[in-house]
Amino acid sequence: MRTAVVLVGVVAALIGAASANMVKIVGGNEAYPHQFPWQAGVRIHLDEEGASCGGSLIAEDWVLTAAHCAEPPIEQPRFSVVLGAHHIFNNTEEGRVTIDVDKVFVHPLWKGQKPNSTAGDIALFKLKQKAPLSASIQTIRLPREEQKRDSFWRKTVTISGWGLERTGDKTNAPVLRYAINKIVSNLYCKLFYLFKSFNFVGDQNVCFSGWGWKGGCNGDSGGPMVLYEDDGPTLIGVASFAFVYACNLGFPTAYTRTTTYLDWINETIQKH
Ligand SMILES: *[C@@H]1O[C@H](CO)[C@@H](O)[C@H](O)[C@H]1NC(C)=O
Ligand SMILES: *[C@@H]1O[C@H](CO)[C@@H](O)[C@H](O)[C@H]1NC(C)=O
Ligand SMILES: *[C@@H]1O[C@H](CO)[C@@H](O)[C@H](O)[C@H]1NC(C)=O
Repeated sequence: MRTAVVLVGVVAALIGAASANMVKIVGGNEAYPHQFPWQAGVRIHLDEEGASCGGSLIAEDWVLTAAHCAEPPIEQPRFSVVLGAHHIFNNTEEGRVTIDVDKVFVHPLWKGQKPNSTAGDIALFKLKQKAPLSASIQTIRLPREEQKRDSFWRKTVTISGWGLERTGDKTNAPVLRYAINKIVSNLYCKLFYLFKSFNFVGDQNVCFSGWGWKGGCNGDSGGPMVLYEDDGPTLIGVASFAFVYACNLGFPTAYTRTTTYLDWINETIQKH
C-alpha cells in the first residue's frame, strides 16, 4: 500500500467520490499469491468487479473491516466479501470464494466522519456461510488481552490491500500489494493531521510510518495491519485514513487500533 491520505479527510473525499476510492497501498511490493490468506476484499454492491475496501477474516464467518466501509455513501449497499483472491478483478481465479454478508455491525461510536474524531471506525460482517479454509483462505488472530497495554511503537508491521498504487490512479491495484514499516507514536501521527483537528488522531489509532513514501491509499480502507510475532501473525489494526490527496507524501497511515475495540469485537461475535 501506499501512504494514503488522511483517511478521514481522505475518506470523506474517497468514499464520497466513488466506491473504488478508499485507502490503498503505495510504495510497497506485490504480494505473492495468498501471502496474506486472511485478506478479504469488501464489495458494496452486486455487480462490483474489484473491491471497494479491505477486511480481515477473524473467524470462519466473521470479517473485520472499517465502519466507513460498512456505511458507504450509496443507497442500499449489498455487501459481499471476496476471500482467497490475488488478482482482484479475475472472478474465475482459482482458490477464491465470494460470500454474501448476512449482518453488519458498526461500532456504536461511529456516527459518520466527525471533524474532530475518527473514533469507532471499525465494523464486523457476519457472513452467510462459513469460509472454506484452505491454503489461500485462513483466519488471523486478534491481539491478546495483555496487548491492550502495548502501544506497538517502533514495532515493524505489514499492511496489505488492493488500494491505489498512486494518487490519481483510476482503478485499484489488480494484484494484492503490501508494505512494511514501523509504527510511529500517536503524537507524531497527530502532527500530520492537525489540519483536521487535534483529536483527529486519537488513542484509538495506531499509525504506520510514511517513511520511504509507503502507506495506504484509496481502496485500502478496512484492510489489515499485521504484527508478525514469534508464534504467528496478529491483527493489530484496521485501515482507517490517510492523506489520500497525495498518498506518496510521507504522511503516516492511520489504522483503527484493534486492542481498543477488543471487547466490542468479542461481545458482538459471542452474541450473534
Ligand atoms: C483468471 O484466472 C484463471 C484461473 O486461474 C486463469 O486461467 C485466467 O487466465 C485468469 N484470467 C486473467 C485475465 O488473468
Ligand atoms: C468534538 O468532540 C466533542 C467531544 O468528543 C463533541 O462534544 C463536539 O461536538 C465535537 N465537535 C464537533 C465540531 O464535532
Ligand atoms: C472473549 O470473551 C470470553 C468470555 O469473557 C473470553 O473467555 C475470551 O477469552 C474472550 N476472547 C477474546 C479474544 O478476547
